Amino acid sequence: MTKNSMTYAPARQALLFVLALMILSACGKNDAATKPVEIAASHTSEAPVVADRPELSIDASAFRCLADMTAIRHFFVDNLLGDLDATVAVAEATDGGVYPPGSVVQLVPTEVMVKHHSGWNAATRDWEFFELDVSADGSSIRNRGFVDVVNKFGGNCFGCHIKAEPKYDLICELEHGCDTIPVTREMIAGIQAADPRCIQ
Ligand code: HEC
Repeated sequence: MTKNSMTYAPARQALLFVLALMILSACGKNDAATKPVEIAASHTSEAPVVADRPELSIDASAFRCLADMTAIRHFFVDNLLGDLDATVAVAEATDGGVYPPGSVVQLVPTEVMVKHHSGWNAATRDWEFFELDVSADGSSIRNRGFVDVVNKFGGNCFGCHIKAEPKYDLICELEHGCDTIPVTREMIAGIQAADPRCIQ
């Protein structure tokens, strides 16, 4: 092992040098290629084309006080890619629809669904489930994922939400076919109003 690495050290150095050159030139290309994408993402509401689509990276800063999101009936929506109009249009439709990438949907402060780009996860139809810890300091992510996220009551998010009729894109509300939750809309309104992130 030691002998081999001694013998091949010069060859390895040369290889590293070539790799470094390749990475540097790839970086240069990326800079040029991503600029128009950023402009497209922030200034138009058109769905981005697959090859140039902006990356959807989600960390705790993506989540905020429910009252700062857009209220639709009894729940709240947002869009991390700037396409709020498209998200609102699907949320307002009472006969279902497919949420666009970047959509954020919340009923209570600690449970979130975020829509990834098409093809991200076929089983969840590109939804990622989050369980958050929330406080006056903001949100932190306790748990995230696709088919295996379990809330603090032991319920699997996907297990319930996949039971919604297909046209509702995993959104449960009360009559879409999901297992019910033992929380009334009145209780939900109270939980929403008590979102600790909204206290400045
Ligand atoms: C026992 C089944 C069940 C489990 C488990 C569950 N949900 Fe739900 N969820 C529901 C139902 C039913 C509603 C609709 C309640 C209403 O509208 O009053 C709902 C509502 C929601 C909504 C608002 C949009 C909608 O579908 O109506 C989001 C977002 C959400 N849940 C996310 C989650 C996340 C994230 C988890 C896991 C951390 C989770 N849920 C776990 C059944 C469940």
